[in-house]
Amino acid sequence: MTNETIDLMLKHASVRNFTDEKIPSETLKMLIDAGRAASSWKNFQSYSIINVTSDETKQKIFDLQPQKSILGAANFLVFVGDLNRAEKAVKLHTTDFYPTGVENLLITSVDASLAAQNTLLAAESLGYGGVIVGLVREQSAEISQILNLPDYTYPLFGLALGVPSRHNDVKPRLPYETVVFDESYQVQDDEIIKTYDQVQQDYAGERRVGSDWSDRVAAQFGAEPQTATLATLRDKKLMRQHRK
Ligand SMILES: Cc1cc2nc3c(=O)[nH]c(=O)nc-3n(C[C@H](O)[C@H](O)[C@H](O)COP(=O)(O)O)c2cc1C
Repeated sequence: MTNETIDLMLKHASVRNFTDEKIPSETLKMLIDAGRAASSWKNFQSYSIINVTSDETKQKIFDLQPQKSILGAANFLVFVGDLNRAEKAVKLHTTDFYPTGVENLLITSVDASLAAQNTLLAAESLGYGGVIVGLVREQSAEISQILNLPDYTYPLFGLALGVPSRHNDVKPRLPYETVVFDESYQVQDDEIIKTYDQVQQDYAGERRVGSDWSDRVAAQFGAEPQTATLATLRDKKLMRQHRK
């Protein structure tokens, strides 16, 4: 048994190509409100959303991170991990404030991600489409400046939204039993990786651009992480500076 909601979720595919049609502002507000209805850590709602619609700002972000979805989107929503409001709340009660560290980073990132996914799903339910653009973190310092982000905030990812001009096929996920375990974790052997590389190759067909799924995993996790995010987090007082 399924229903309209589950069908919609199972049909998700990122959209990176948009028509020129705008999303009416009251519709966008409704989509974001649906997003903001997501669960959040202790209801702190530790994120903000910058709604970028002007060609000028989209172009500035695109110049840094040239992905066509940024320019083509009706709305490029930048989700910002945010403890700036928290600072104001804390100061009502104490002069101590500890915004730094990994736990806080996870709190803000998870909250923002849940809101973004809900927003995207709401958009998809009305026939809009979108894609999350995480690579903006490679230029997080410049993007923070463009968006005027204050201390205790950092840009997590963008969400490009608009009317699709091209739909992608639904991408096959890893097999259920390689991701979902009964009762306790089961370490997988590399056969499942090879099999999934093949599944992805079959899916990509002629669009295949030469790298396997595991190649892309290796490119990401087989190299030192890029440092722009850490530098921005330090600049925004969300990570401690190196001890001398
Ligand atoms: C945190 C995050 C960051 C992402 N960053 C990008 C990005 O910078 N550019 C892009 O084209 N897609 C990006 N994506 C979209 C993924 O590539 C996409 O969701 C994934 O390949 C699965 O495809 P699907 O969404 O069509 O099912 C991102 C997705 C997530 C969750």
